[in-house]
Amino acid sequence: MAGTTPKTYRIAVLTSGLSRGSNLRAIHQYFREHKIPVEIGFVLITRKSAPVAEYCRQEGLPVEFVSSLDPQAFEAGIQKMVQSYQPDLLVLAGFMKKLSADCLRAMAIPALNIHPALLPKYGGQGFYGQRVHEAVYASQEKVSGVSIHLVDPEYDHGDVIAQAEIDISDCQTAAEIGQRVLELEHRFYAPTIYKYLTSRS
Ligand code: GAR
Repeated sequence: MAGTTPKTYRIAVLTSGLSRGSNLRAIHQYFREHKIPVEIGFVLITRKSAPVAEYCRQEGLPVEFVSSLDPQAFEAGIQKMVQSYQPDLLVLAGFMKKLSADCLRAMAIPALNIHPALLPKYGGQGFYGQRVHEAVYASQEKVSGVSIHLVDPEYDHGDVIAQAEIDISDCQTAAEIGQRVLELEHRFYAPTIYKYLTSRS
């Protein structure tokens, strides 16, 4: 309807370890450049020295540190943050931890994850980051891509809501595949997040 102000959504972005945060950056910049009404409520980090924290400081994005050393305290910490910021959606970007069924249920909001391969291939325990691309390269795949899926208590397992493919037939190394897929991730995650948010309300 003309003149209707679009709803502003709020997301929380979860990272872990020494996350470089390139997906967070791409998401943040896409929403800003395209004036998409999605606000990043907070960015979770599990290591204070994670490079992603520096980007957040520069951009004034709230950063919340929760140690992941004790799994129960970790999940309780995330739940506390979710209660206090009330996001509509959790966005996992370089988050390599599992969230238990109890924790996901208690938070009562959906969570999306990005995975740098065409699930169900090259997903699950041990398949993360560059390891994924090494396996794809070793199998001489001609096509790889990006999967965005709902998060459940298993690694890379929930329903896939969107996938994008890319030709890797001329890639000479696993690193080259990784670079090509990462660029696709950066183009694909933010619009998929917004599409998902708007499809739910
Ligand atoms: C991304 O390639 C993401 O798809 C992958 O980790 C990288 C994080 O990069 N996630 C997984 O492998 C999850 N199983 P970033 O910190 O620069 O966004």
